[in-house]
Formats: sequence, C-alpha cells, structure tokens
Amino acid sequence: MSREWNSTAYHRLSKPQVGWGKKVLSRLRLRGSEVVLDAGCGTGRLTAELLEALPKGRVIGIDLSGNMLRLAREHLARFESRVSLAHCDLLHLPFDNVFDGIVSTAAFHWVLDHDRLFAGLYHALVPGGWLEAQCGGGPNITRVRTRANSLAASREFAAYFADFREPWLFQDAESAAETLCHAGFIDVETSVEPALTFLDSAEHYGEFVRNIILRRHLENIPGEFERRRFMARLTEQAAHDDPPFSLDYWRLNLRGRKA
Ligand SMILES: C[S@@+](CC[C@H](N)C(=O)[O-])C[C@H]1O[C@@H](n2cnc3c(N)ncnc32)[C@H](O)[C@@H]1O
Repeated sequence: MSREWNSTAYHRLSKPQVGWGKKVLSRLRLRGSEVVLDAGCGTGRLTAELLEALPKGRVIGIDLSGNMLRLAREHLARFESRVSLAHCDLLHLPFDNVFDGIVSTAAFHWVLDHDRLFAGLYHALVPGGWLEAQCGGGPNITRVRTRANSLAASREFAAYFADFREPWLFQDAESAAETLCHAGFIDVETSVEPALTFLDSAEHYGEFVRNIILRRHLENIPGEFERRRFMARLTEQAAHDDPPFSLDYWRLNLRGRKA
C-alpha cells in the first residue's frame, strides 16, 4: 500500500480538517516557547497555525509521505529555523524525552497499531509533557465506508479487492483511553464527537472522497476508467442522501500527560 498522498489536492481540499484542527489547537495553553511535535503534519496548514501560537518556540513536523512534506516545506518556509520537517513513521519514532508537547490532527486513524503509536509518543515527551490530539473515531464515515465496501465486494470490482483490508483504525473513547493509560499517560481524557460535513457539489464530493477518504481503496483499481466508475457509483448514491454529498464524520479527541 502506498504511503503517498496527492498533496496538492489535500492542501486545496482540507478545509474540514483545518477547521477541526484549529479547534484542537484552541485547547492548548501555551507559554509560547515550547518545543512541540506535529505528528502527521501533512502539508503543514495546521503546523503554521501552531507556529504562530509559539512565537519563541519550535515545531518538528513529521510525516510518512514525501509529497506531503515537500508541500509543507514550501508552505512553512517563512518560519525558517523555528520549524524542522522530517520523513518519519509514527510507528518508529526515534525521540526520547524531547518534546514539551505533541499535537496531532486527522492522522492517528491511519496508523493501525495504537499500542505501539502511543508508547512511542509517550517516550518522545519530557516529564510533564502533554499530548493533545484528534483523529477519526467511533462510527466515523460509516455511510461511505459501508458503500465502498459493498461496491468493492460486488462482481464489478471484487477481483481488485481480494486481499484488501481497510486502512483505518477508528477507536471509541473508552478503548482509546485504555490504550493511552496502557502506554503510561496520566490525566487521560477522551471523547467522540460528530462532525457532519457538507460538500457543495458532486464534483467536490468525488474529489474529496477520492483523494482523502478512499485513496487506498482506489489504489487497488488498476485503470483510470474503472476508478472513475467506482467513484461515479459512490457519488450517485451520495446525491440521494439528505442532505446530498454529506459525510458522517466523527472525531476522537485524545488528551494525556507524561508524569
Ligand atoms: C489527513 S492527513 C492530516 C494532515 C494534517 N495533520 C491535517 O490535519 O491537515 C494524515 C497525515 O498522516 C500521515 N500519516 C499517516 N500514517 C502515518 C505514519 N505511520 N507515520 C507518519 N505519518 C503518517 C499521512 O501521510 C498524512 O499526511
């Protein structure tokens, strides 16, 4: 499975993620001089917001996608030496006692081993360091997920999805809290909230779902003609939803601290 994203499309389409992420950042109580990790920074739209809130601080942004990091480098150039970007897998974090805080938005559900992920994040923090994060959770995107899975199992497309496994882990609030505590975090708080999202046209819906939600599904379909057919079927179904072209997003909020 590819680690890559269409970063140009993500940068342009990620208004919902940026909106959710800004709410997460608004919960931080910063002195302004902290060293913070942005775990799964993508194209850096929220990393920039974080840097604005840390006039004397530094941010290290890490991501698995080279495309995302290339765009983030351009987007964050104005912050010069206050930001560093690194190609790094969240499951292989090389940091020990480095960060005052860790922020992550819309990334953790792409990582399928949360025990290992949270253990690595815990090690990366200094004592007293904090984690403030959000990712998909609970019944996130059930509607499009169910439709994509039944389309993938249909006679038309089944041959392409023989060994396919969904690329996400959507934990509920209780199991996420347990995983955080198990990794060593204290003062753990988790919650799941709805984030129903409306896209304004069939074209917008198709682009968004193709490049963000179902990018891994689409990679299994070899030809562009067939990929378009898969997306056309889903878009047609979404046109009949009430309201049309809406996505039943749910966000899992995660907070914890290292003793
Ligand atoms: C939906 S984007 C979110 C980007 C940004 N945080 C935002 O909110 O706009 C998810 C990001 O997580 C990154 N990601 C997924 N799995 C990862 C992993 N194992 N290690 C590092 N980054 C990962 C992806 O490459 C992608 O850039």
